[in-house]
Amino acid sequence: MSNTSVLAYCRPGYENDTANELTTRYGEAAIYGYPVSKKQSGFALYHLYDDTQLENAITQFAVSQSIFPRQLVAVFCAMKDIEKDDRVGQVLEALKEGELPYSIFGAIDVEYPDTEDGKTLAKFCRKFTVPLRQALRKAGWLTAKENAGKPKLHIFFESFENCFIGYTLPNYASQDHLGICRLKFPSDAPSRSTLKLEDALVNMLSSKQQTRVLRSGGRAVDLGACPGGWTYQLVKRGMYVEAIDNGLIADSLMATGLVEHHAADGFAYKPQFGRVDLLVCDMIEQPDRVAKLMGDWLVKHWATHAIFNLKLPMKRRYETVTQAISLLVSRLDALNDAFSVKVRHLYHDRDEVTVTIIRTSEDEV
Ligand SMILES: C[S@@+](CC[C@H](N)C(=O)[O-])C[C@H]1O[C@@H](n2cnc3c(N)ncnc32)[C@H](O)[C@@H]1O
Repeated sequence: MSNTSVLAYCRPGYENDTANELTTRYGEAAIYGYPVSKKQSGFALYHLYDDTQLENAITQFAVSQSIFPRQLVAVFCAMKDIEKDDRVGQVLEALKEGELPYSIFGAIDVEYPDTEDGKTLAKFCRKFTVPLRQALRKAGWLTAKENAGKPKLHIFFESFENCFIGYTLPNYASQDHLGICRLKFPSDAPSRSTLKLEDALVNMLSSKQQTRVLRSGGRAVDLGACPGGWTYQLVKRGMYVEAIDNGLIADSLMATGLVEHHAADGFAYKPQFGRVDLLVCDMIEQPDRVAKLMGDWLVKHWATHAIFNLKLPMKRRYETVTQAISLLVSRLDALNDAFSVKVRHLYHDRDEVTVTIIRTSEDEV
């Protein structure tokens, strides 16, 4: 029996969806194993049948190319019943006994689940990092200076007594502690929803894409815009926005002179000048209905790029999202343009995922 597994961190409540995603994708890649997840634990495991498949598993797709995982760690050691005294010594002993996949690591991260129970571990994990780092350096397992180009060692405490030890590789992992990118709420933004779009812009678009898609002077449509958190992000970047919603839009946004508010149905609205650079949409509606609408705008060239949220049902969330997206992608595949499509359950999302569709071909209309 193998002792290796892929450990995926996720939002509490999404363990089953994460496990479904891993089982489906690893199954498609003939990386066989079985998922283990516990409700509200903040993580899911995919146990591999074959130890030699571990690195193959974590390089199969990057975290940024997955939906629910916040981080994907290649676990090669699981420690149980750790005693209170000399935890550093016990971790070192476990590393000595096990077969280390790399002779040296560039950094360590001591982490815990993003749950209420996990929070009680946060202080301990922070304190524990310092002596562990020193001991690992002394043992020659950690570079003298942090080196982001090398594998990173992760010690994930499920509880004070149990932890998983594993690694991530630079091009495939999230660089954020716990796989979470925390953003500061801008005090002049009209709603907290603003953080969802900022998270998507910062974490789902490359810096090149950000420059191209969010041009100052460019045009955008925001469907389901009120009170204006998403429009705020676009206006902040100098874009003109047609904000569509029957609700009230923040006066501060109207005062910029960059926003036109139309009290209209987002499903019937057409862009004022025939097209826009970017379509964004945060309407609370059936995911397949929103995906169809986004596809219509992209196929008709009403929008060059689209960023939108799909609200998740209570059950079969992975299946619902992948079905809606694969239908949309098959429509885009019929066009001459190339698109980069990403779907992520971002830290600032709740029961929804964010989709970015960036037209990568230069022959934009
Ligand atoms: C989650 S809120 C949007 C929040 C907004 N993104 C922000 O950052 O402030 C959803 C909005 O979608 C609007 N909405 C729902 N269905 C709509 C439709 N068919 N047409 C236009 N707006 C719609 C609602 O009025 C509501 O204001």
